[in-house]
Amino acid sequence: MNPPPVSLETRDLTISFGGHVAVNSVSCAFRPGELTVIVGPNGAGKTTYFNLMSGQLTPTSGEIIKSGHDITRLSPSARARAGMGRAFQLTNLFPKLTVLENIRLAVQAQKGMGPRFFRAASSFKDLEQRAEEHLTAARLQSVAHLPASALPHGDQRKLEVALLLAMEPDIFMFDEPTAGMSVDEAPAILDLVAEIKKDTSKTILLVEHKMDVVRALADRIIVLHNGQLVADDAPETVMSLPIVREIYLGVPAENAA
Ligand SMILES: Nc1ncnc2c1ncn2[C@@H]1O[C@H](COP(=O)(O)OP(=O)(O)OP(=O)(O)O)[C@@H](O)[C@H]1O
Ligand SMILES: [Mg+2]
Repeated sequence: MNPPPVSLETRDLTISFGGHVAVNSVSCAFRPGELTVIVGPNGAGKTTYFNLMSGQLTPTSGEIIKSGHDITRLSPSARARAGMGRAFQLTNLFPKLTVLENIRLAVQAQKGMGPRFFRAASSFKDLEQRAEEHLTAARLQSVAHLPASALPHGDQRKLEVALLLAMEPDIFMFDEPTAGMSVDEAPAILDLVAEIKKDTSKTILLVEHKMDVVRALADRIIVLHNGQLVADDAPETVMSLPIVREIYLGVPAENAA
């Protein structure tokens, strides 16, 4: 079977901060139905690569192509509308509204539903149903009616994912989604990523340091090092590379063959 067409591609993507090249000519293509884990040491350029793709940063040179369209110059919000989904710390949240109300507003925003829309009772029901689905998927039912500001940290991260689901993106970008979570909280987020992965129309990019997580979820691993793409292969192949063993096991590359 032929692989599905490329959903997202970066071509010679580069950004320099002063003299420092944080992302250096990274060319890489991603496809639906594939979860790619991006690994690399601290400061390798992983988050910067995400910032370039989601539009928080403008590249010095190179292109970002989504489903055949050049999105390099689009604003972050235009990219989000085009299906680029990135979970952010909850900046677009209404702290006094409940969890469910926040999700409902995100669904409403995605659907571009104006006030007139709500005169149709069936549409309102559809909206409610969608919001409930995302609430359940993110396992937030027990806190549905709490104000968003009252959520403990782990639930806030789940709400970020629920809001991301409400946007119905086709590209999901997760940058260390379990960072700062306790060991009891992290599996819920990872299950959620695994659930999203079941929909083979979605392309998932995940920056993750925890090796057990990488093993459980990755279809493919790419390695960034000093801003450059230094490896791109199946998980077991990449895991055995000296550079990866050095990064994750602390084995010096020259001894890690
Ligand atoms: N806005 C900025 N201005 C100047 N330098 C920056 C900026 N953003 C990132 N950098 C630099 O670019 C390099 C890559 O940083 P980045 O945050 O992308 O690394 P990372 O791979 O995500 O690391 P970590 O694993 O610690 O999250 C670092 O040297 C960082 O200091
Ligand atoms: Mg980072």
